[in-house]
Amino acid sequence: MKATARACANQGLIKYWGKTEESGRLPSNDSISVCLDRLTTTTTVEFSPEYAHDTVRINGAPAGDHRVTRHLDLVRAMAKSTLKARVDSQNGFPAAVGFASSASGFAALSLAAASAIGLNLSQVELTRLARRGSGSASRSIPGGFSELKAGNDEEAVAIQLASPESVDLRTVVVVVGEAPKKTPSSEGMRITTETSPMFRARLEYLPKALDDMRAALRSGDPAEVARLAEVDTLNMHATMLTSQPSLIYWTAETVAVMHDVRAMREDGIPAYFSIDAGQNPFVNVPAPHAEAARRRLEQLPVVRSTFLCAPGGPTELVDPPLF
Ligand code: DP6
Repeated sequence: MKATARACANQGLIKYWGKTEESGRLPSNDSISVCLDRLTTTTTVEFSPEYAHDTVRINGAPAGDHRVTRHLDLVRAMAKSTLKARVDSQNGFPAAVGFASSASGFAALSLAAASAIGLNLSQVELTRLARRGSGSASRSIPGGFSELKAGNDEEAVAIQLASPESVDLRTVVVVVGEAPKKTPSSEGMRITTETSPMFRARLEYLPKALDDMRAALRSGDPAEVARLAEVDTLNMHATMLTSQPSLIYWTAETVAVMHDVRAMREDGIPAYFSIDAGQNPFVNVPAPHAEAARRRLEQLPVVRSTFLCAPGGPTELVDPPLF
């Protein structure tokens, strides 16, 4: 009754921002992402009649995380079980990088918990389960470049659009600050959908943005994938900035990196920024230019550290267990 899974975090390329239904985490729009091979979470889950209640440890510290317990409840309901669980989860990157690990966290938790309790779920069923923990987690299940569909509970599943090897893209994860974001994604999405006059315009813009990204992935064009992700970043952040209260996830350091990336392009490096709901930007760049982009970013006084990532694989069962 014990299983261990490892999942990669992912970066939205055409971003998910908004839900049609909160409790089922049904996304308002299709979204596309790339898994990041160096940002991983490994999670061991054991269900046992010996446990009187669920216990959760994240990076070695006890965590009273109700979202994890609620997710275990979903798995128990699917398996018609009342067994309690022990969950240990470890991020493969320093907690201090300040990246929310909900995507890799809920992807690894979903596979480990489903396997530990003896559910035999298909990959698509796993993406549905992971989505109910965190929308973006769904896209970490198939790995590579993947798409989460909008729609009802049946339809809102993720599939892989392109394998990790098929697009020669690299992502420099740029750490400019370690403070957690003030407004969590779920709350931010609710504020935006309810108040931003730009939200409707985003929904109208998205079908073509998604088609363009799918085409860039099909043709394996990393510079175009990177460029389209920057365009979509600014579109999504326009809805955040025009929410009430306004959501400004960028800090001065984030904006300094955005300007430097634009200056890099003038100097011949085809690099593009991408920012999710936080202060730390990603810089996407075709693989042959990745080291040059990274060296240049590390020289910026606002940059604390960088991680160079390649596209990552699917969520998988691994050994040994964490306990
Ligand atoms: C800005 O998946 O964290 O990173 O479903 O409420 O848990 P919940 O939200 P979450 O949202 C991620 C939003 C984003 C864009 C993206 O990853 O596509």
